[in-house]
Amino acid sequence: MYELTVDCGTKKFGDNLVLDNVGISIDRGEFLAVLGPSGSGKSTLLRILAGLESLTAGTVRWSSDGARPPTGVVFQQPLLLPWLTVIENISLARRFTAHRHEFDHEYPTTLLRRFGMDGLADRYPSELSGGQAQRVAVLRAAATRPRLLLLDEPFSALDPATRIDLRQWLAELVAELAATVVLITHDVEEAIALSDRIVLLDRGRIRREWREVRTGLDTPALRADILQQYQPDEVAVP
Ligand SMILES: Nc1ncnc2c1ncn2[C@@H]1O[C@H](COP(=O)(O)OP(=O)(O)O)[C@@H](O)[C@H]1O
Ligand SMILES: [Mg+2]
Repeated sequence: MYELTVDCGTKKFGDNLVLDNVGISIDRGEFLAVLGPSGSGKSTLLRILAGLESLTAGTVRWSSDGARPPTGVVFQQPLLLPWLTVIENISLARRFTAHRHEFDHEYPTTLLRRFGMDGLADRYPSELSGGQAQRVAVLRAAATRPRLLLLDEPFSALDPATRIDLRQWLAELVAELAATVVLITHDVEEAIALSDRIVLLDRGRIRREWREVRTGLDTPALRADILQQYQPDEVAVP
């Protein structure tokens, strides 16, 4: 069953064709990684899925009666409110009308404990490392129990060791949420480690797709194939 389908998705900013006839269906519960060099339209696609931007032509269809499912979004920067503590930042959604009634007040505390961060509950964002702050941003999105989690290069501003720690941490969180996930990344290893399926976006078009990534047995061959297709703008040094 599909969570969402994009048909003939085209996006222009003036004369700049940023998404060119993109067609993609995402299964409910699927973890999709979107790889692509900088400027290929990844963030634009994510912003369209998040409802922050609309298509110039084409459609996005949602499985459940045409409405967007509860959605959480995480960007490259944590965007925490500096005057709120960690637990207050994670509980932020309860301040908004859309979430006020169904927000589970215990859940932020449960999430912090479950994901090894209860010692940080009363800290302010200025007292966190980059990796800790980004974990808080992810938990803030998780705290609304989203059915769709959209992540735009959430770890790319972090150092490589922290990035690898957060990979495992995110895998555990996603397993708990049972959400549909779209992860934008230009890190091939991150895409392989986390996703069920990888699509390669290139100048606004989906150029390749790899299925059954996590269950695929031959990861070195898969990696070599992806790297051959994908010329990232910055070469990651392992
Ligand atoms: N709000 C905007 N207004 C005008 N051009 C934009 C806007 N957002 C993105 N673009 C352009 O769209 C193209 C793709 O950008 P983006 O989706 O951010 O790519 P990526 O995330 O893959 O680096 C770029 O050429 C960028 O300049
Ligand atoms: Mg981007």
